[in-house]
Amino acid sequence: MSGNQIEELEGSELGTKDYWDKSYDTEIENYKSHGDVGEVWFDEDSQIRVINWMLKNDIPEDNQIIDLGCGNGMMLVELYREGYKNLSGVDYSENAIELAKQIAADQDMQITYEVLDLLNATQITEKFGNKQFDIVHDKGTYDAISIHPENPAEKRAAYIQNLHNLTSNNGLLILSSCNWTESELCTSLNGKFELYKTIPTPTFKFGGSVGSVVTQIVFKKQLSLIT
Ligand SMILES: C[S@@+](CC[C@H](N)C(=O)[O-])C[C@H]1O[C@@H](n2cnc3c(N)ncnc32)[C@H](O)[C@@H]1O
Repeated sequence: MSGNQIEELEGSELGTKDYWDKSYDTEIENYKSHGDVGEVWFDEDSQIRVINWMLKNDIPEDNQIIDLGCGNGMMLVELYREGYKNLSGVDYSENAIELAKQIAADQDMQITYEVLDLLNATQITEKFGNKQFDIVHDKGTYDAISIHPENPAEKRAAYIQNLHNLTSNNGLLILSSCNWTESELCTSLNGKFELYKTIPTPTFKFGGSVGSVVTQIVFKKQLSLIT
């Protein structure tokens, strides 16, 4: 059990940078040879549900939006198509950022991409200074960090702190996970973020219990109390 009382997940190679570098290396080759943009994690419906939620909830087009662990950047490409223009994507894999930049350039979209390790607070400050974002989006990145084979609890805690620093005081964190339940996410983020809205996702029933393949939650930033 970690500080915030959840059981850690089993480690996997999907938690390592080496895995992602190799995976995006292949995706770059596929994109160059036949224009395949590569994997959209948790399928396109998950992406569409978040975008629909943002549109339905009138998230302004001039909001500063960052996608953490953006991979090929397809979430940002779709947001750009919907009219959002202040879009940044970061990923620690140079190959992911190379692919994302190429896709955006080919579609003549102005999206800012940076190579950044989201566990490295110093690197984040060097890139962004005090800049904070209205919408912080994470689809699958917290999941990947959670299954790092070494010290996942510490890594999750560092990531959550960095998420908090990157989110503006009135900002929202939109997080999609297939490794954690809503209750586990709320427990882990407690003290930094609180549940604002749950985005409904398809459910399945097994042995009398109802579950979801993907959990999609909008969190509000919690501000520390000044005493
Ligand atoms: C499951 S993929 C999701 C990619 C993309 N968000 C999507 O939905 O298609 C996880 C992503 O997180 C990135 N990632 C994992 N740990 C990271 C870290 N410490 N800093 C930055 N990016 C990280 C990986 O390189 C990978 O692109």
